[in-house]
Amino acid sequence: MSSQDLESIARSLVEPGKGLLAADESSGTIEKRFKAINVVSTEETRRAYREMLFTTPKLGQYISGVILYDETIRQKTADGTPFTEVLQRQGIVPGIKVDKGAKAMAGCPGEKVTEGLDGLRARFSKWRAVITIGGNIPTDACLEANAHALARYAALCQEIGLVPIVEPEVLMDGTHTIERCEAVTSRTLHIVFDVLIEQKIVLERMLLKPNMVIAAKDCPQQADMRQIAQATVRCLRRHVPAAVPGVVFLSGGQNDVQASENLNAINLLGPHPWEVSYSYGRALQEASQKSWAGDAAKVVDGQKALLRRAQANSSAQMAKYSPAIETAPISLRPSPVPA
Ligand code: 13P
Repeated sequence: MSSQDLESIARSLVEPGKGLLAADESSGTIEKRFKAINVVSTEETRRAYREMLFTTPKLGQYISGVILYDETIRQKTADGTPFTEVLQRQGIVPGIKVDKGAKAMAGCPGEKVTEGLDGLRARFSKWRAVITIGGNIPTDACLEANAHALARYAALCQEIGLVPIVEPEVLMDGTHTIERCEAVTSRTLHIVFDVLIEQKIVLERMLLKPNMVIAAKDCPQQADMRQIAQATVRCLRRHVPAAVPGVVFLSGGQNDVQASENLNAINLLGPHPWEVSYSYGRALQEASQKSWAGDAAKVVDGQKALLRRAQANSSAQMAKYSPAIETAPISLRPSPVPA
């Protein structure tokens, strides 16, 4: 694949009004999500659930790419169409998660490093590193080890013709303040870009998937969307080179409406040097999972719930989100073609 292709794939993933659906939960994670809706996780229930998501009419108007898990990229609809084909028919680019999850880091108690690199297929891919905030952590040793793994992954992806999504996630778990999250996210991004540049990653041919700068879930002092937007934009502007085509946030445990409101607030502070969009997992899927709850008769409800979140985030990407979107009627019927 030519280098031009990689840059245009990266740019197409952050086309205005579009973002990514992260549907790459490992079998362990999807089992947890299914437990919350009383669905037993089997290869077939996972397939049926993902078929519901990927066959949602009009999804391609709001979703540019879907990140898949290894099992899912090889699955098909009940009538035998490969999921990758179903997505491509809607103009959605398939991608794949290639990391094998965060593992305890030898020599750094309480910290983790992500391992594993194989199964590269699709047009783009994702590798997630997780950074935990605690008393004395993260250490620079942990940040550097994770930045190194991210950079080696990104270099290999570019070498074989995949757009790497580089995801250093500073977790929302704990009681830390928004100020502490900003300091840690700042240090993390500083080290990540230092190593990406050292390892000669072509910045035009990658996307960054960071956390928003936000107080921890159990912090007594929660920041409002304006504070979150200001801190996030300040942090990104200090550390993310303008050559990177797009920043696609993870939702990280924010509720789905908050994730749309915060993205909108961030885009209201634009224009930014990069497109600022979404690559949400939970914030796009949670409502859909609840509406579906494993019942084949509720596929349409599940699809409507997904489409509502996709529309809300698409509007937020263009700084046009309004709370009215949350109650507007949702139709799965194709929009009329303009005369
Ligand atoms: P969440 O949006 O649920 O955080 O998931 C995004 C993701 O891909 C995490 O790796």
